[in-house]
Amino acid sequence: MLPPSYHKDKEEKTMRALVLVVVLLATIATFSHAGPPPRQVHNISGVNCLSWRLGVESNNIRDWTMVPQQCEGYVGHYMLGHQYRDDCISVAISAVQYAKNATLAHDGNDIWVFDIDETTLSNLPYYARSDVAFGATKYNATKFDAWVSEGRAPAVPGAVHLYTTLLSLGIEPVFLSGTKSEFRKVRIANLKKAGYSHWKTLILKGANDTGTAVEYKSKKRTELVKKGYRIIGNIGGQWSDLLGDNAGARTFKLPDPMYYIA
Ligand SMILES: *[C@@H]1O[C@H](CO)[C@@H](O)[C@H](O)[C@H]1NC(C)=O
Ligand SMILES: *[C@@H]1O[C@H](CO)[C@@H](O)[C@H](O)[C@H]1NC(C)=O
Ligand SMILES: *[C@@H]1O[C@H](CO)[C@@H](O)[C@H](O)[C@H]1NC(C)=O
Ligand SMILES: *[C@@H]1O[C@H](CO)[C@@H](O)[C@H](O)[C@H]1NC(C)=O
Repeated sequence: MLPPSYHKDKEEKTMRALVLVVVLLATIATFSHAGPPPRQVHNISGVNCLSWRLGVESNNIRDWTMVPQQCEGYVGHYMLGHQYRDDCISVAISAVQYAKNATLAHDGNDIWVFDIDETTLSNLPYYARSDVAFGATKYNATKFDAWVSEGRAPAVPGAVHLYTTLLSLGIEPVFLSGTKSEFRKVRIANLKKAGYSHWKTLILKGANDTGTAVEYKSKKRTELVKKGYRIIGNIGGQWSDLLGDNAGARTFKLPDPMYYIA
């Protein structure tokens, strides 16, 4: 049996809760009428481009094929302005801090996996072309391959600093890229020109490397681990560089709001 005071207590509590809710609703109503909603500076024609970019970078938005038309200008300003540069450098600094503190075996088997596109080499000069529009036009493999063949992609901001720090710590770089192996010569020349001259191995996509980027990169990383290498870190511009098997003890995501690779 519950004491009679129980029900009375309960009633009083309910009343108090009700009063609280009413006060809260009144407060919300007052403030919501206080003025117009905050200005949506990044909301162009119904697409909030900053929200879109956050969704893309956090892997909430997936399988997109093109930058929304309305966000071409936003992405262009981001990529060409100081924010993209600062964001890349910030990622590199985090990776350096982590690497300096990592426990290493110093037996030549500590490795760091680098993706190439938008990780070590930047395709920004290509994406800034008016017909490419920072990814707001349909991907054209013929055109992109022609750009890769030019072999003049610059380094991604901060990436050479990370690379040289890793070398000084005794962590061996491994390049793992979805670039087709037919571009091996020009890619090596480009890497050297951009400031990367040494690596344990450079893995490009062969004719038999089918499947998604996640599958391909997982397979290659697993082969490295089976050979006895320890993946201390893994850095990439796409989530598909960082997901899957043997992703590494830590992963670092660089910004890339221009294209999506599954
Ligand atoms: C963006 O603006 C449109 C109107 O132009 C509005 O309907 C929409 O709710 C806004 N979206 C966001 C996320 O602010
Ligand atoms: C450095 O490593 C130690 C031990 O592994 C760890 O406790 C600490 O949180 C690390 N510090 C940073 C800044 O990563
Ligand atoms: C791709 O670009 C090439 C070279 O500029 C052009 O000839 C071709 O028509 C383009 N393909 C598509 C599908 O737009
Ligand atoms: C691809 O696979 C085929 C059939 O197994 C083989 O003959 C060929 O040598 C392989 N090519 C490469 C580049 O590994």
